[in-house]
Amino acid sequence: RAYIRSASKMMRDRLSPGYLELVRELGKIADAMGLEAFLVGGFVRDLVMSHKNEDFDVVVEGDGIAFARRFAQVHGYRVHSHSEFGTAVIIMEDGFKIDVASARFEYYASPASLPVVETSSLKMDLYRRDFTVNTMAIQINEKSFGTLIDYFGAQRDIKAKAIRVLHNLSFVEDPTRVFRAIRFEQRYGFSIGKLTSNLIKNAVKMDFFRHLSGRRLFSELKLILEDENPIGAVDRMAGYNLLPFIHPDLDFGPEKQDLFESVKEVLTWHDLQFMDDSYMKWAVQFLALFHGFDQDQVDAALLRLEIAPKFHDLFYEHRQYGRQCLYRLEREDKMVNSELYRMLTLLPTEMLLFLLARAKSKKAKRRLTRFLTELKGVACLLSGKTLKQMGIKPGPIYKKVLDAVLDARLDGKVFTFEDEMALAVRLINDANA
Ligand code: CTP
Repeated sequence: RAYIRSASKMMRDRLSPGYLELVRELGKIADAMGLEAFLVGGFVRDLVMSHKNEDFDVVVEGDGIAFARRFAQVHGYRVHSHSEFGTAVIIMEDGFKIDVASARFEYYASPASLPVVETSSLKMDLYRRDFTVNTMAIQINEKSFGTLIDYFGAQRDIKAKAIRVLHNLSFVEDPTRVFRAIRFEQRYGFSIGKLTSNLIKNAVKMDFFRHLSGRRLFSELKLILEDENPIGAVDRMAGYNLLPFIHPDLDFGPEKQDLFESVKEVLTWHDLQFMDDSYMKWAVQFLALFHGFDQDQVDAALLRLEIAPKFHDLFYEHRQYGRQCLYRLEREDKMVNSELYRMLTLLPTEMLLFLLARAKSKKAKRRLTRFLTELKGVACLLSGKTLKQMGIKPGPIYKKVLDAVLDARLDGKVFTFEDEMALAVRLINDANA
């Protein structure tokens, strides 16, 4: 039997007015179509736990696609639907998305020819989900707006801070749930329940991950590594012996844990300093995870995870070149700004941050932070256009002059536009002499 209570106050208190209105509008369309509609999954879990989450997942008892289309039509939004799954995505003009799924009444014959049973389609839909904490629903039809329905003890498990599967075959159905269990556990500071933990150990022992595609494994790992606390999660993966599914030699010893701590500090520093999260956090963590691997080992891991070729440079050329850079940064006595710039400008942010995490000496750390904070964005005032206006014939001389002017600026030898012009003229005259 379901545990039912009102969550409408919670909705009013914790949801911004615009989103609350949106949910009411969804409910009105459901009413007009005579359908029962619910918010479900991660949104409800996070609402109950007071975590920010504005990913709306709606389940409709009936035709979810027709519901999504009607809602979109009334409000002038777009819809993408997948008829084979009965799912649709409503896309609002600002790009905000709402996922809609259909739950249909199901009739199934129990074993031993007992009578055919009819079950609430919502309940069946929720029963197929991964963990109890994700099985709550909130009705959004006007007459019962905000009714929270909890069939499987989600609120009990949230109180107990436990991640538990709903049935023993959950990881057979979908082995990626093993990684999801760890991610939720670490994100919320919960613990994986005893039985669930044993089922994970069994999944490892029986090698449920053999048939898991690299793409799915990678996307789960990426989510783990981008979450708040990847160290705890990687430690748990190591504890369950899950790392060998990525590569047989992968470990998480004290040295690597220190490296992860150091990466965490660097990323926190970077995000505060630049307010920029356009780089790939997961890639920095992967560099840390694969630290100590030779090229063949990295090769095998990238292959297992089906990591797209566009990322390969980072793990091959940049990784190798980065290692040489760090060697020089740690050892060379004198290094002027232009030299530092020329060396490090060839590396992407992900590698620079990883090198900063690896740097041992104050000198190397200072050099890397100097590049990131002061030098990386420097540009000269002169441009190719200026050279053209000066009547210089386009050719290799352009790059030579512009590089030399930028170096002079980096090293504090020119300040004004006139300084740069004078230097350019001198260089061009020298070249023509
Ligand atoms: N789900 C599942 N098995 C999976 C993936 C998802 O049962 N392998 C279910 C979960 O119950 C989840 C819902 O589908 O609540 C939506 O999935 P997703 O958006 O990935 O999860 P969220 O719970 O919203 O997690 P997050 O906060 O990380 O987005």
